[in-house]
Formats: sequence, structure tokens, C-alpha cells
Amino acid sequence: MLNDQAAGLRALHAQQKQNSPAVQNTLNPPKQMMSKQQKPVRVIAVASGKGGVGKTNVSVNLGIQLSKLGNRVLLMDADMGLANVDIMLGLHTKYNLSHVLDGQKTLREVIMQGPGGLKIIPAASGVRRMAQLNAMENAGIINAFSELSDELDVLIIDTAAGIADSVVSFCRASQEVIVVVTDEPASITDAYALIKVLSRDYQVSRFRLLANMAKSPAHGRQLYEKLSKVTEQFLDVSLDYFGAVPYDQSLKDAVQKQIPVTLFRPTSLSANAFENMAHSVERWSRPQGASGYLQFFVENLFQGR
Ligand SMILES: Nc1ncnc2c1ncn2[C@@H]1O[C@H](COP(=O)(O)OP(=O)(O)OP(=O)(O)O)[C@@H](O)[C@H]1O
Ligand SMILES: [Mg+2]
Repeated sequence: MLNDQAAGLRALHAQQKQNSPAVQNTLNPPKQMMSKQQKPVRVIAVASGKGGVGKTNVSVNLGIQLSKLGNRVLLMDADMGLANVDIMLGLHTKYNLSHVLDGQKTLREVIMQGPGGLKIIPAASGVRRMAQLNAMENAGIINAFSELSDELDVLIIDTAAGIADSVVSFCRASQEVIVVVTDEPASITDAYALIKVLSRDYQVSRFRLLANMAKSPAHGRQLYEKLSKVTEQFLDVSLDYFGAVPYDQSLKDAVQKQIPVTLFRPTSLSANAFENMAHSVERWSRPQGASGYLQFFVENLFQGR
């Protein structure tokens, strides 16, 4: 406990040193000032019920295609499992979010330059800690994220599979939740369970379905129809179709090479699908008011725990 508080103070002190005039405002930010000082950032969580259905590939490749369209994209690796973003990209990460929470590093210092213009926060062990922060640490981390707003257009969060606490927290705080499914019974029932829990217990009411490893565009659409029939019948949610990513050997080869398929085979079917999806994201309407801001996301992450 004492250690926690000391760490919190150090984190806050580090932030104060970096940007002292902003600290007062960040600890108790007047909402009307946020819109003047910060620009809106799209916050998108990528989730799935079942593991191994393609979340990390979706996060990375959608991020790269959005970045090719001129967006400044930050990818947060919020999965503590083994198939982490850094492994997929062959990056050697030394520091992660937990070092920011400890006050050893600033958020900027742990952000890595990934391929294709993507910036990456290796969150790893920091993710669980984030759910246990005291008020002082919260203020430090909210401040740290808020400072990034001006440098970002999109934040993508690659979550862990299933309904772990960290997953629901990230989905609840995000503006958009992409649910990745494949055409396997377990993937579909687990996606349904995830949507059910998020809507019933965490007031998430809108989801976008991505059908991965689809045999054809029609196959992807069918998968969506299958799931949306059940959600319409039993849940009070809106489930929109985001699109299909085809089953693609190029993507598998790219994973082997630790290069995102959008860079390894930019004209492959899957890279093409990710490009179309990036265009769709740009057409999504932005939330009105405070929820369009990064600060709202981070504050929300800590609420209702
Ligand atoms: N469109 C696709 N075509 C072919 N294979 C794919 C496709 N998408 C994913 N895969 C395969 O599935 C594997 C798992 O993908 P990925 O690591 O992105 O899933 P994940 O949902 O992030 O997994 P985890 O739940 O373990 O984090 C990839 O290594 C790749 O072999
Ligand atoms: Mg993953």
C-alpha cells in the first residue's frame, strides 16, 4: 500500500515535471476546457469471445491501413497472453505500461515505433495493474494519456480473449467495439456471450462484427446474419456488420515472418479487406461531446470498478 502510494506520487511528479501547467487542470479538469485544449480521438477496442480468431492481426493491420490513410494510430496491446503484438511484429520491448505506473518511465518513453507508421504501447503486465490503481496513480495516468491527444487520431486496443475484467473495462470505455468471429460454433457462442455480458452488465449497446477467415464475402455476411438474428431476439443491442476478412495464406505467411500482411503482401486479399475496413472506419460518425476525447476513455477505464 505504502509502495503503491509512493509509486503514485512518483508517477505524478514525473508528469508534473513534464508539463506542470496542465497538472492542475488534469486533476480536476473543467469539461468545457477539454474541447478547446484537446482534439477528438477515435478509441476502438478489438475483442472476441474465443481466442485465436484474429484480434491481433485485425488490430495491427487495420491500424496500418488507417495510418496509410493519414491517421496517426496508437495500438495498445492490452492482452497479457502469449500472442502479443510485440511478438507478432518481432519487436523487442523493454518497458511497458507498468513502468509508467511505477513512475520509472513516461508514457512517451514506453511507446514504440512499430511498422507502417504504427505506434505501440506494450501494456502487458500493466493492464492488470491498471485495474488496481489508487486515485493518485489514476490522475497520473489520465494526465499522461491526455497529453497524447494532440498527437493521435486513433487508439486501437487489442484485448485478450473472453470476458476478463480488463477486457470488459476496455470495451466499456471505448467508443467502438469490434467483435471478431470465425465460423466455428465456439467462436459464435463465445462472441454472443461477450456481447451479452457487455450489454447487460456494462451498458455497451453498439458492436461491429468482423467475420474473419471467411470463405467469401457472402460467407462473412451469413455469419453476421446468424449472430445478429440471436442478438436481435434476445439482447437490446445494435450489431452492425463491419465486414469480412478472407481466409488468406498470405496472412499466415506474414505471421511466420513477423511482418503484418498489409506490409508483407499489400495487394493480398486480406490486405485489401483491411484497406476497405479502414475506409469504413473513417466514415463512422464520431461520438458527440466528451466521449469523443481520449481523456473520457481513460477516466472511464477507472470508473465502476
Ligand atoms: N484471415 C486469416 N487467414 C488465415 N489465417 C488467419 C487469418 N486471421 C488469423 N489467422 C491465423 O490465426 C492465428 C491467430 O491470429 P491472432 O493472433 O491475430 O488471433 P488472436 O485473436 O489475437 O489470438 P489470441 O486470442 O491468442 O490473442 C494467426 O497466427 C494466423 O495463423
Ligand atoms: Mg492476440
